Amino acid sequence: MLGPSTVLVTGGAGFIGSHTAVELLDHGHEVVIVDDYSNSSPGAVERIAKVAGRPPAAAYEADLLDRRALTEVFDNHSFDAVVHFAAKKAVGESVRLPVEYYDINVGGTTALLRAMREHEVHRLVFSSSCSIYGDTTKVPLTEGDPARPTNPYATTKWLCERILTDVCRYVPELSVLALRYFNPVGAHPSGLLGEVPNGVPNNVMPYLAQVADGRLDRLQVFGDDYPTPDGTGVRDYVHVMDVAEGHRMALEHLDDKPGMSVFNIGTGRGTSVLELVSAFSHAAGTPIPYEITGRRPGDVAELIADATAVARAWGWTTSRDLAAMVEDAWRFQQMNPAGYPN
Ligand code: UFG
Repeated sequence: MLGPSTVLVTGGAGFIGSHTAVELLDHGHEVVIVDDYSNSSPGAVERIAKVAGRPPAAAYEADLLDRRALTEVFDNHSFDAVVHFAAKKAVGESVRLPVEYYDINVGGTTALLRAMREHEVHRLVFSSSCSIYGDTTKVPLTEGDPARPTNPYATTKWLCERILTDVCRYVPELSVLALRYFNPVGAHPSGLLGEVPNGVPNNVMPYLAQVADGRLDRLQVFGDDYPTPDGTGVRDYVHVMDVAEGHRMALEHLDDKPGMSVFNIGTGRGTSVLELVSAFSHAAGTPIPYEITGRRPGDVAELIADATAVARAWGWTTSRDLAAMVEDAWRFQQMNPAGYPN
């Protein structure tokens, strides 16, 4: 088990990154954040310090593709490991801006690998995604199931996994854990940390939260003609606090074996869009207006995790249910209707 460490968290001001930063600080690790604030803000770093009771060792505003800035970060600290979240993550946007997605997600990862190599940092936890399984009818999905990405976002994550596997083959001192998370949602139970996308949310949960508090008119449900029980898309929503714990455990298990390993991070339970709307309405105590529209390009019917491998490897399991996910997301929305103060 890796003991107290100094950890670079890329994208540490983002949704999963900020919750993971708190989890690492709570467990005695030092955290250095690099974020370009393209879909986050420095306000998140202040909240991390408030929730954890101590600040990250440093927070840099930098783009991973800025080689000089990244080198300076690595020069200033002696990292034991890196947790790499910084990436773009919206399926719909990736269909419109594929080149940007390849540049930032794949180019950002290789830039990071280069800096790690130059500074002899050999441990990495990588944010992968269930979306790499793509157009599949298999339920639930295990790590051995084939990747069939259906949109540029998913393809960038799959390419990063391929690159990491290949680099691990030729750099034997490297240890990489890629976590394929299903759909992280929810917020810190304090209501101080949550998901704050810039602009109109792309993902269903922050969108629902803004409809519930009247900032947006209604949710558009993307398709009700999928082969699922109510026709709407089914996903394995997983509480961001469980996901953050998964990252902290991954970090501490990086030395278990060298090379590349991949784990699903999900609950094993599926929820349709309409079931999510109903759960959120219940938590918010108000009906949530919605309309059925056409399918979103690149979407698939159903993605549910088989997360038994990670339970076997490190004993990680989820402990928060859908009710906790929507209650925590709603508390955060009510306490921070306009996101973090600037
Ligand atoms: N959906 C709607 N209306 C919306 C947004 C989404 O009906 O306004 C539906 C989608 O069609 C899908 C489900 O809600 O069936 C979930 O969509 P999200 O956009 O919230 O999430 P995705 O399943 O597309 O997953 C993507 C990435 C994941 C990532 C997740 C959250 O593939 O890697 O976003 O960031 F974890």
